[in-house]
Amino acid sequence: MSANSAPDPVVPRPENVRRPVRSFVLRQGRMSPAQQRALDELLPRHGLPFAGAPLDWQHVFGRAAPVVLEIGFGMGATTAEIAAAHPERDFVGIEVHAPGVGSLLRELDRRALANVRVIRHDAVEVVDAMIPPGSLAGIHVFFPDPWPKKRHHKRRLLKPDFVHALALRLAPGGYVHIATDWSDYAEEMLATLGVERLLANTVEGFAPRPESRPQTKFERRGTRLGHPVFDLVFTRK
Ligand SMILES: C[S@@+](CC[C@H](N)C(=O)[O-])C[C@H]1O[C@@H](n2cnc3c(N)ncnc32)[C@H](O)[C@@H]1O
Repeated sequence: MSANSAPDPVVPRPENVRRPVRSFVLRQGRMSPAQQRALDELLPRHGLPFAGAPLDWQHVFGRAAPVVLEIGFGMGATTAEIAAAHPERDFVGIEVHAPGVGSLLRELDRRALANVRVIRHDAVEVVDAMIPPGSLAGIHVFFPDPWPKKRHHKRRLLKPDFVHALALRLAPGGYVHIATDWSDYAEEMLATLGVERLLANTVEGFAPRPESRPQTKFERRGTRLGHPVFDLVFTRK
């Protein structure tokens, strides 16, 4: 909200309606003028507005190509690197953190990447409303927020219901690739994906780090703290 615009009206929540437990808390975060400009000028070009209807990928990208979804791309450096390395694929990145969205938009513009679209919205709602079942070649979730305190575990993104929703969006043979540097979250996800009937592990236990995954900012931080990194790669049966 700019300094001179009116505040949004506060609509009281009816007493019996529970606030959904989300996997993120939106912090104001500092936006650089360049990130703000990117949001204003480039989001209309590279972004897709949240909508209540399933997308038609061929219409979105203007071609028929495998589509890979990335959830929580952070500042988007990895997204841009992978998309640049795979011009034959199309990528959809979802993120709620506005400076991160601005940062990826700038990178898409700088590299003139035409195979990425960005959605600035809660991924749980996007997957539910906008991603057609059986339509994805792959899903990347790199370093999802670990919510380390036990009382916050309920906020972790990769819960059984969401994992099932993701599995349903994969085409047969499509993959989901998750990485984390939190060992208890890694074990929890291994168990959750392991019992999802639509998915099969590509290896026994954790996967060797796939060459295709560039190091992310959060991974570098984890490595500095001495955290091992766990990769999980499952495919849709
Ligand atoms: C720990 S960061 C990792 C960022 C990046 N993948 C990396 O490895 O550098 C997790 C990101 O997920 C985003 N996120 C969490 N829950 C989300 C949701 N439900 N929808 C979209 N983005 C979400 C957060 O805003 C944050 O940027």
